[in-house]
Amino acid sequence: MVSFRNAATAAVAFAVASASTCHVCPDDPTRFVLSDPPYTDYFYSDCNSAAQVVVTSPLPQSNLSIIGPRLLIAWPAGNSGAAAFFAPQNGVNGSLAIELVNSTTTGNALDPIYEPGGDNPIVGVTGRISFNSSATLVLPILGSIRTIRDFTEGPSLLQPIIQDAIETTKFEQGGFSLSRLWLDNVTTTTLSFEPVEKGCAIRHKNDTSLHFDAGVYTFNASFNYPQLVQLSSEEVLADSAQGLIEESPELTQPLSFLSYTDKLLAGAWRFLTYFGRDSMISMLLMSDILSPGEGGAWEAGIGALLERVNKTDGSAAHEETIGDYATYLNMQEGVMSTDPMYDYKMVDTDYFLPIVLAEYFIKNPVGKGRVEKFLGQKATEDPDNAGLTYRDLANLNAEKVMNITAPFASEGGQVQENLLRLKEGEIVGEWRDSNNGLGGGRIPYDVNAAIAPAGLRAISSLATAGFFPNHPDWAEQAAAYAQVFEDETLHFFEVDVSQEDAVALVDDYVSNNDFAFSSQTSNITSDVRFYGLALEGNSDNQDLVKVMNTDDCFRHFLLNTTNQTQLSSFISQTADHILAPFPVGLTTDVGLFVANPAYGSDPIYSTNFTNADYHGTVVWGWQLSMMAKGLERQLGRCLASDDTPDFCRHEALHSKVLSAYHRLWDVIDENRSILSNEVWSWKYEEGEGFVAVPLGDYSPTESNIRQLWSLTFLAVKRNEALK
Ligand SMILES: *[C@@H]1O[C@H](CO)[C@@H](O)[C@H](O)[C@H]1NC(C)=O
Ligand SMILES: *[C@@H]1O[C@H](CO)[C@@H](O)[C@H](O)[C@H]1NC(C)=O
Ligand SMILES: *[C@@H]1O[C@H](CO)[C@@H](O)[C@H](O)[C@H]1NC(C)=O
Ligand SMILES: *[C@@H]1O[C@H](CO)[C@@H](O)[C@H](O)[C@H]1NC(C)=O
Ligand SMILES: *[C@@H]1O[C@H](CO)[C@@H](O)[C@H](O)[C@H]1NC(C)=O
Ligand SMILES: *[C@@H]1O[C@H](CO)[C@@H](O)[C@H](O)[C@H]1NC(C)=O
Ligand SMILES: *[C@@H]1O[C@H](CO)[C@@H](O)[C@H](O)[C@H]1NC(C)=O
Ligand SMILES: *[C@@H]1O[C@H](CO)[C@@H](O)[C@H](O)[C@H]1NC(C)=O
Ligand SMILES: *[C@@H]1O[C@H](CO)[C@@H](O)[C@H](O)[C@H]1NC(C)=O
Ligand SMILES: *[C@@H]1O[C@H](CO)[C@@H](O)[C@H](O)[C@H]1NC(C)=O
Ligand SMILES: *[C@@H]1O[C@H](CO)[C@@H](O)[C@H](O)[C@H]1NC(C)=O
Ligand SMILES: *[C@@H]1O[C@H](CO)[C@@H](O)[C@H](O)[C@H]1NC(C)=O
Repeated sequence: MVSFRNAATAAVAFAVASASTCHVCPDDPTRFVLSDPPYTDYFYSDCNSAAQVVVTSPLPQSNLSIIGPRLLIAWPAGNSGAAAFFAPQNGVNGSLAIELVNSTTTGNALDPIYEPGGDNPIVGVTGRISFNSSATLVLPILGSIRTIRDFTEGPSLLQPIIQDAIETTKFEQGGFSLSRLWLDNVTTTTLSFEPVEKGCAIRHKNDTSLHFDAGVYTFNASFNYPQLVQLSSEEVLADSAQGLIEESPELTQPLSFLSYTDKLLAGAWRFLTYFGRDSMISMLLMSDILSPGEGGAWEAGIGALLERVNKTDGSAAHEETIGDYATYLNMQEGVMSTDPMYDYKMVDTDYFLPIVLAEYFIKNPVGKGRVEKFLGQKATEDPDNAGLTYRDLANLNAEKVMNITAPFASEGGQVQENLLRLKEGEIVGEWRDSNNGLGGGRIPYDVNAAIAPAGLRAISSLATAGFFPNHPDWAEQAAAYAQVFEDETLHFFEVDVSQEDAVALVDDYVSNNDFAFSSQTSNITSDVRFYGLALEGNSDNQDLVKVMNTDDCFRHFLLNTTNQTQLSSFISQTADHILAPFPVGLTTDVGLFVANPAYGSDPIYSTNFTNADYHGTVVWGWQLSMMAKGLERQLGRCLASDDTPDFCRHEALHSKVLSAYHRLWDVIDENRSILSNEVWSWKYEEGEGFVAVPLGDYSPTESNIRQLWSLTFLAVKRNEALK
C-alpha cells in the first residue's frame, strides 16, 4: 500500500497532459444510480471530476408544499452545485413529473463535460431531462451547495448578490443557458437546457422565468474550479479488504465517491465536503478496512483534520466553508478574499481527534511506521496554519483537551459546574446538532461520559508512545483524568422512573399525541433506568433532559470501563432499551430510534422529538452500527483469558446482553436496503406497524442518500461467534 499518491498524481498528470488532445481518462468512469423516491440520485466520476445529480419528482402521496420537481447537481470541488426548481405551468402542484432519460447516443444517464482552457478546465455533466407536462423553471441557484441549502433548509433565503448575477443567454436553435460568475470573479457555473426533439422549444417570456413545453431536453451543468482527486474503490480500501469491491459495490462505490486524496467527505449531496466528526467516526468504525499508508484513506482523513486545527486554542474543526460561499462569508465580514473558513463550534470533535490518532499511529501496523514522516509535514490548507507541522497541531489539540478536562478531573472537582459543556453562545456542540437535538441541554451526556474519557485514554497512550515529546507527563496524567471521567460522570445523567410512573408516562405519551401504535406498557415489568441526553435543559421544572436515547453506544464502543457495579448496571439498561419495543424502549421494525421522549415528563420533549425532527424519533444508520460494534466489543471482553468483567459471569445478564446484540442485528438485517441513508423516519400503518419513509417527507431537512458513516456496515458485521 505504498504508491497511492504516485498513482493518483500520475492519473492527474495524464489527464492534464492529454487535456488539449483527447482528455481521456486512463480508467473507465464510475457511474451508479440510487433510487429513494421521490429522489433519484445519479453519480458520475472519472479522473477529471466527480458529480452527483439528484432528481426530485413528487409522488402521489408527497406533501406538495415541500416536495416539488427539482434538478440538482452537486460537485465535491469547492462544495459547489447548481439547482433548478420547476413548477407545473398549469399551477397544479403534483401534475408535473420529471426524470432523467438515457442518452440515445451514448446510452448513459450522465456523460462528462470536459473543456480545456483557462487555468482550470471546464468540467461537469450532461444528461437528458424529461418533463411530462409543460413546466416553468421558477428558480435557479448557481454556485455553492451552501447557498442551495440556505434556500431549501432555512426560511427560503436568497441573496441578491448571488441571484442577480445569473445571466440568461438564448441559444439560436432554442434553449437557454444560465450562468453566474462567482464572487471570486474567476469561476463560472453554467446550467443550460436545449430541446432534444423538434417542436419542443423553450419560450422565453422574461428574464426570470423560463418555460418548457412537455418533452426531453439536454442539460449541461459545468464549472471551472480546481478539482479534487478521488480515491478509487481499490485505493480507499486496505489490501485485506479489496474483496468488498465485488461483494458490496453498493457501499464501496459511494465510499470512493466520498473519499479524496486530501479529505473524506461527510455525505452526498448536502454535506459534500470536510466534516470532522463524520470522518472520524467513520474512520473508527471502518478502521480495519480503510487503506493505511501514504496516499491512503487514513492519512487523507487525518491530514484533513490536522490541517484545520485552530492554532490559537487547539480546537478541531467541525465544518469547512470553501468555494463561492467562503468568498460570500468573507464579504459579509468586509474582507475581499476567497480563503476558506472553519467552524469550531462543536465540542465532541476535539476529543475524537486523539482517539483517531491513537487508532492509526498506535494500533495500525502501517500507521505505526508512518509517525515521523507524517507528523513532520507542514500544513498547507488553512492559511492561518502555514508553517506549523502536523505534530504541532496534534500537540495543540491534546493540550486543549488536557486543559479543559482538568477542573473536573482534579481532586474534589467532580461537580456539575466542572462538566464539559457547549461553547458559550452555541446551542449545539455534538452530533445531535439541530436546535432541539439536546432538548436545550448544555452539558451533553455523550461527551462527558464517553467521548472525553476516550480522548484522554488516547492521549495517554500516544504520550506513552512518545508522540508528544514535550509532554511525557501526559502518559500518567491523561490516564488519571480518564479514570475520573469514566467513573464519576455517569450518575449525573441517570434517570430513574418507578414502574408505576413509567407506565403512566408512556400511556400518556401515546394518548396525548394520538399515536396509532400501542403503548406496549405491559412490557414495563420493573422500574426504568436510562441516561438522559444532557443537563441544563430547557424545561422549567427539571435540569436533566429526560429523553431516552442511543448515546450509550459511545461508551460501549470507545471505553472499557472498570467499575464493575457500574458497568453491569449500565450494560443491563442498554440491553433493556434495545429489547423493549418503542415507546417503552427504542426498538421498532425500522431500527432503534435515536431519541424516545416518552419519559420526558414535560410536554416540550414530545413536541420537540417527533418523527419530523432531525434528531427526534428517527433512525440514524451509523448509530445502529456503533451500537452493534460497541456491544460486540463489550461482549468481546468476556472472551479474554483474564480480567473479564463481572457481567460476563452473571448468566442472566450476559444472556440478556447477547439477546439485545442479536435483536439489534435482526433489525439491522431487516433494513438492509436503507442502512446507508443518513437518517430515516417512519409512518405507522395498521397491520404493518412502523414503515420507513424519508425524513424529507416531513421536513425540509432532507436526508443524504449516502453518508460516509452509514457506509460503516462494510466493516461492522454480526459476530456469529457471540452466542
Ligand atoms: C406539509 O408540509 C408543511 C410544511 O412543512 C406542513 O406544515 C404540513 O403540515 C404538511 N402537511 C402534511 C399533510 O403533512
Ligand atoms: C406548490 O409548490 C410550491 C413550490 O414547491 C410551494 O411553495 C407551494 O406551497 C405549493 N402549493 C401548495 C398549495 O401546496
Ligand atoms: C405527469 O405526472 C404526474 C405525476 O405522476 C401526473 O399526475 C400527471 O397526470 C402527468 N401528466 C401528464 C400530462 O401525463
Ligand atoms: C438507462 O441505462 C441503464 C444502463 O446504462 C439501464 O440500467 C437503465 O435501465 C436505462 N434506463 C432506461 C429508462 O432505459
Ligand atoms: C470582483 O470584482 C468586483 C468588481 O470589479 C470587485 O469589487 C471585487 O472586489 C472582486 N472580488 C474579489 C474577491 O476580488
Ligand atoms: C415574468 O414571468 C412571470 C411568469 O410568467 C410573471 O409572473 C412576471 O410578472 C413576469 N415578469 C416581468 C418583469 O415581466
Ligand atoms: C480560534 O480560536 C480562538 C480562541 O478560542 C478564537 O478566538 C478564534 O475565533 C478561532 N478561530 C476561528 C476561525 O474560529
Ligand atoms: C493550556 O493551558 C496552559 C496553561 O494555562 C496554556 O499556557 C496553554 O496555552 C493552554 N493551551 C491550549 C491549547 O489551550
Ligand atoms: C421545544 O418546544 C417548545 C414548545 O413546546 C419550545 O418553546 C422550545 O423552545 C423548544 N425547544 C427546546 C430546545 O426545548
Ligand atoms: C411487549 O408487549 C407486547 C404486548 O403489548 C407483547 O406482544 C410483546 O411480546 C412484549 N414484548 C416484550 C419484549 O416483552
Ligand atoms: C462503582 O460505582 C458505583 C456506582 O455505580 C459506586 O457506588 C462505587 O463506589 C464505585 N466503586 C468504585 C470502586 O469506585
Ligand atoms: C475493549 O475490549 C474489547 C475486547 O477485548 C476490544 O475489542 C476493544 O478494542 C477494547 N476497547 C478499548 C477502548 O480498549
